[in-house]
Amino acid sequence: MKLTPQTALIHAPRKAPQFINTVQAPLFRASTIIFENTDALFNRHWTDDYDYSYGTHGTPTTFTLGDHIAQIEGGKYCLLAPSGLSAINLVNSCFLSHGDEVWVADNIYGPNMEHLRNLETRYGIDVKVYNPIDTDSFQPSEKAKLIWLEAAGSVTLEFPDLINLVKKAKSKNILTALDNTWGAGLAFNAFDFSDEHLSVDVSVHALTKYPSGGGDILMGSVVTRDKALHHKLFRTHAIQGISISGDDAAQVQRSLASMQIRYQHQSNSALHVLQWLKTQAIFAQVLHPADPDNVSHQYWKDTCQTEQSAGLVSVIFKPEYDMNAIRKFCDHLKLFKLGFSWGGPVSLVMLYKLDDMRHLDHSHLQKGILVRFCIGLEDADDLIADIQQALKAL
Ligand SMILES: Cc1ncc(COP(=O)(O)O)c(C=O)c1O
Repeated sequence: MKLTPQTALIHAPRKAPQFINTVQAPLFRASTIIFENTDALFNRHWTDDYDYSYGTHGTPTTFTLGDHIAQIEGGKYCLLAPSGLSAINLVNSCFLSHGDEVWVADNIYGPNMEHLRNLETRYGIDVKVYNPIDTDSFQPSEKAKLIWLEAAGSVTLEFPDLINLVKKAKSKNILTALDNTWGAGLAFNAFDFSDEHLSVDVSVHALTKYPSGGGDILMGSVVTRDKALHHKLFRTHAIQGISISGDDAAQVQRSLASMQIRYQHQSNSALHVLQWLKTQAIFAQVLHPADPDNVSHQYWKDTCQTEQSAGLVSVIFKPEYDMNAIRKFCDHLKLFKLGFSWGGPVSLVMLYKLDDMRHLDHSHLQKGILVRFCIGLEDADDLIADIQQALKAL
């Protein structure tokens, strides 16, 4: 058929083969997926995990990544979302309804709490806060539907009493959702941990951090082992139009091969930096769950039997160092960049006023301004030298 120039711009003479063998999986970008014929159109079924109907449902590129994340985390099914927070919100909007009670660890990722507070005000969901290192503070009523766990929790990095919290939730038929970003599926298996082979119901992972590894891609995942739970999530995911770009999925897929090496390097560096931070009199407290002096150390040890930990370490400055002094310290850092997130190649720093962040009383935390170091892939001694020179500015 002879084509006019306008049509020739659209229909290329050569069609790329759909399958040749390459090291990396081929990249599919799609909103529209073309059906071979009307039989294929009418015989499709959206609850089939590998149904290719429309870009929002997924493509071979996103399914490849999803299956891979599920495998790494020890789960079976995975849904991908455009950010870690959007994956969290998917779980909240899927499982919570008017009149339900949801339990949240006090050290949960802040925007998760914000989202739940918003649901509380708008939809009458009761948000209850518990202390992750005190299982007795988790006192669910008959209305309790879901408990959020995070191991280790955000900013103050307490490792929860995961074993007893999960056992208690299960005994009361409460769904357990874990923010598994810190462990990344590497420090422990959220679907088979402890000598008792416990499992959470849902694992949420901000793939933005270690799986991406570049500090340049936002993505999240929701992994389950249970088909019924997955289908419920799958339906919410579909009707909310949650989808990710094929290009981003391919980038994250490519980074997975090096994730364990990066994770181990960052976690070793964090431990090295931790040892040095502990010798500095300027800090009232250094926070890291693998530190034997840490209040939650035993919980970390019981769960993370591989003895792995991520690349995060926090310090609380002695109370005489006010916000101006801490800002000066952060502004003098050279290798550590001031920014949110973690898991990328560049080390990051962030400062927090804990009083504004916690709902419960945490007697194990000293008073003072907290600084969180997110260790990147630089040499750990260079990072120590950077902190050392910035401290001299005080
Ligand atoms: C523990 C934790 N969970 C979830 C998220 C959200 O991930 P994202 O930045 O992809 O929305 C973050 C981000 O910092 C996080 O630290």
